[in-house]
Amino acid sequence: MKVFVIGSGGREHAIVTSLSKSSRVDKIYCAPGNAGIAALAECVPIKAMDFDGLLKFAQEKQIDLTVVGMDDPLVGGIVDVFEAAGMRVFGPNKAAAILEGSKAFSKDLMKKYNIPTASYENFTDPGEAMNYLKTVRFPVVLKADGLALGKGVLICNSLKEAMDGVRTIMTDRKFGDSGNTMVVEEFLTGREVSVLSFVDGRTIRIMDSAQDHKRAYDGDEGPNTGGMGNFSPSPFYTSEIDEYCRKHIYQPTVDAMAKEGRPFKGVIFFGLMLTEDGPKVLEYNARFGDPEAQVVLPRLKNDIVDIFEACIDGTLDQTELEFESDKAAVCVVLASDGYPVSYEKGFPITGLENFEGKDDYYCFHAGTALKDGQIVTNGGRVLGITAIGRDLKEARSKAYEATEWVSFENKYMRHDIGHAIDEA
Ligand code: AMP
Ligand code: GLY
Repeated sequence: MKVFVIGSGGREHAIVTSLSKSSRVDKIYCAPGNAGIAALAECVPIKAMDFDGLLKFAQEKQIDLTVVGMDDPLVGGIVDVFEAAGMRVFGPNKAAAILEGSKAFSKDLMKKYNIPTASYENFTDPGEAMNYLKTVRFPVVLKADGLALGKGVLICNSLKEAMDGVRTIMTDRKFGDSGNTMVVEEFLTGREVSVLSFVDGRTIRIMDSAQDHKRAYDGDEGPNTGGMGNFSPSPFYTSEIDEYCRKHIYQPTVDAMAKEGRPFKGVIFFGLMLTEDGPKVLEYNARFGDPEAQVVLPRLKNDIVDIFEACIDGTLDQTELEFESDKAAVCVVLASDGYPVSYEKGFPITGLENFEGKDDYYCFHAGTALKDGQIVTNGGRVLGITAIGRDLKEARSKAYEATEWVSFENKYMRHDIGHAIDEA
């Protein structure tokens, strides 16, 4: 069959890599893709938000299955456009992708269905938000309602910081229309765990947990990023926690969306905080995480096409996920120095051939491009170096060893990815 993947990051490279292992797949296309994806798929320069262009291409090539990796097109309704044209597509409809597209919606949903999350209030008026902030305890968390490239979350330690935050989000509209509505949320403490799942509208199947490192610098300091590295499974995600989440969070979320007339099919990403009072939902995403996909998908034993199709057809109840449970994965992101604030791109990358033929090592491309026959840096996050080991420690030392195999000017990485492993 012919498969079409939409997106251009490390997540999409991981999805394409899984698809390339499927015996059912003959040809993969990716729009727009990147230089790494180009080794496994034919990349076509159509932008992820050009729904007409993507649909036309898919129809011309008689694509059998389209997989949408990115949040923007999902929240914008690309799945509805493809379905209306009779195409088979993996991902939530617009009505369901709102689970990620609106934080106010997801908070209200959790409140209505008693799904554990931080207490909160939603605001559309900056003055009302400011008055409310005079009554709360600090730190407090401000969240722009809509998509903001993962940057619309401000943790404020004082009333002054919170007032500045309201201005940033609602008045100066730094995150654009995302700031039309703002959530003010209780600050939670604990360990953060990401759990990805496949959903077919009714049934949910949980993937192995992962733990992300969102801050830019060692010691979890510095600005928030899309993720500087991660590991899977999380040793802190115990079977008791899993049982609790299945009962109080996962299935209830799927049931709530169905009850609201917004049945969700695709991937739900649960961002959880393991607090002293039990796990609570920090956020939902309506897609694979990046780099979570880079540590979870390489250990998935199922043919991924079977799972995508079960989600589309509503037959996930007949499928069990299988992971290489005797193995662990660690991903270290190689970024451009200065990310996420400002950085240069266009530097040649050397040493990529060192990954060829090595089963336990993956070099997922996040921000790369082909320029005059040479692969160059083309983003803040450039490569995700993933290694598989018998346990987390072995995977971590293998991943760090492999970070030395590639070079580019202004290469930057954190040196403490997986430090939490030592505390487990
Ligand atoms: P989000 O984009 O919602 O994932 O938020 C980005 C990051 O902000 C999360 O990964 C957490 O580290 C942090 N965060 C979000 N909400 C809270 C909260 N209620 N309490 C503490 N930290 C939070
Ligand atoms: N790594 C977090 C995300 O994909 O949103």
